[in-house]
Amino acid sequence: MRKKNNIITVAIDSPAAAGAGTQAKLISEHYNLFYLDTGKIYRYIGRLKLKNEKIFSHKLVQRKISKMKLSYLKDKKLLSNEVALSAAHVAKDKKIRDIVHNFQKKYAYRPPKKYKGSVLDGRDIITVQVKDAMFKFYITASLKIRAKRRFDEYKKLNKKITYNNVLKSLRFRDKSDKQRKYGPLKKTKDSILINTTKLSKKACFKKIKSIMDKKLNY
Ligand code: C5P
Repeated sequence: MRKKNNIITVAIDSPAAAGAGTQAKLISEHYNLFYLDTGKIYRYIGRLKLKNEKIFSHKLVQRKISKMKLSYLKDKKLLSNEVALSAAHVAKDKKIRDIVHNFQKKYAYRPPKKYKGSVLDGRDIITVQVKDAMFKFYITASLKIRAKRRFDEYKKLNKKITYNNVLKSLRFRDKSDKQRKYGPLKKTKDSILINTTKLSKKACFKKIKSIMDKKLNY
C-alpha cells in the first residue's frame, strides 16, 4: 500500500530520549526509507544562537538553513545538553519553525530517489509536518528511564553531567515542548502509542514492524 507521490511516509513524535531516533533508524534501514532527525535541525539553530548571541536573527537562520548540508547534522557538538536547551528555546519561535518546516517538507514528500519513502521524527511531525503520514507513531517512556538512557549516552561521549541534571533538563524540555504555543508536542488520536519504558530496542522494533508489515501487505 502506497500513498501520496507513491511513497511510504512514517511520522514519529516523542518527548526527548524516548528511543524514537533509534526506532526511526531501524525503520529506515529495514524498509529503505530516508531518515530525517528533525531535532538535529533545531539543535543546529540552537548552537548557532549560542555561538552568535549578538547577531542571531531570523535572517541569519534563513541564510544558514538554506546553505545547510545534511552532513552538518552529524556534528557531535549538537549532542550536548547546552545545545538541547538552546534548541528547545529557539523551537518556540514561529518564524524559526516555519523556516525548518520549509526545509523538511521536501525530504518528507520527495526523498532522494533511491529510497522508498521517508521517516521523520520530532515533536510536531504528526500534528503539523506530515499530517497525512501512512504510519503515525507516538513513542514515549517514563521520565526516569529517559534520563537514565540519556545519561548513559552522555557518559559514552565523555560529557560531564550528573544524572540529576539530565533529569532536570529533560523535565524542563518536556514542559517547554508540550506547553509552547506553536507546534506543541501532543499525541493525536490517530497515532499508535509505543511505550518503550519496559521494552528493549529489539522488542520495540518488532512491535512496529508487525504493525507496518500488516498494512504494507509484506
Ligand atoms: O529531539 P531532540 O531532543 O534532538 O530535539 C531538540 C529540541 O528541538 C526539542 O526539545 C524541541 O524543543 C525541538 N524540536 C521541535 N520540533 C521538532 C523536533 C525538535 O520543536 N520536530
